[in-house]
Amino acid sequence: MSDTENEATDEAVAPETEVAAVAPPADDQVPAAAKGGRRFLIAGNWKLNAGGTDGCDLALAVARTAADHEETEVVVAPPFTAIAAVSNELYNKKSDVAVAAQNLYFEESGAFTGEVSASMLRIAGATWAIIGHSERRQLFGETDEAVLKKVIAANAGGLKCIVCVGETLDQREAGQTIAVIERQVEAFASELAKSGGDGVIAYEPVWAIGTGKVASPEDAQEVHAAIRGMLAKVDADFSQQTRILYGGSVKANNAEGLLSQRDIDGALVGGASLEADNFGKIIQIAAKLARQG
Ligand code: PGA
Repeated sequence: MSDTENEATDEAVAPETEVAAVAPPADDQVPAAAKGGRRFLIAGNWKLNAGGTDGCDLALAVARTAADHEETEVVVAPPFTAIAAVSNELYNKKSDVAVAAQNLYFEESGAFTGEVSASMLRIAGATWAIIGHSERRQLFGETDEAVLKKVIAANAGGLKCIVCVGETLDQREAGQTIAVIERQVEAFASELAKSGGDGVIAYEPVWAIGTGKVASPEDAQEVHAAIRGMLAKVDADFSQQTRILYGGSVKANNAEGLLSQRDIDGALVGGASLEADNFGKIIQIAAKLARQG
């Protein structure tokens, strides 16, 4: 259904938003091209919002901005109910914007009322799946074991993964951040490596999600570098190829500092992804940083 290889065409309308002014990166910051060739990925997690025609309108607005900023890979994650419609709209517009599911079930079929499998999501047009989001872990009891099963199911079903990890405020204050992230990453890293460099990890400190409290670029970079080190234990190439996104209150006004960091390869955006202008500006900032590289 959705063909992410399609080139954007003249059908795409120029974005209505102005390109945000982006200062050149400071000396200690590294432009995208120096990040081992990893392309920026900006993903919008719509959560329990925009599940109908409003999702199609939002996706088309995102597609208009993305068409002019091909340096940046763009993904939107609507609720299950809008995946097919959004995928169709993007396909009809020949947009490169890809569609992610916010979750999947690890079984392929059977008596699992209310669940959706990887192959169903592929048929609906999704090419990505977000796995292990902290809201799934905290509100729906998703364990590291379930996350692993979902990564296996996504690999088997042809979905690329965005696997989320992150510490709570209590864990951070107790100095457990790296230990918590390591436990979460080790649960799925070997399986993620099987998809080569296609798999993505999102570092989302739980205390920063939906709170307006963003991690400082330096604090985020420290954890991202640690995650890359954990991946290197599995495979050096996998570690260098894997994009590690930051998530947690990313907005147009704080994206530049984060995306300029050496090991931050994009953003998983919640609240701001529901505002086409704000999300569009984050895409533009990533594209501009990539061009500066
Ligand atoms: P937020 O959400 O940007 O609203 O903090 C991020 C996420 O949960 O992925």
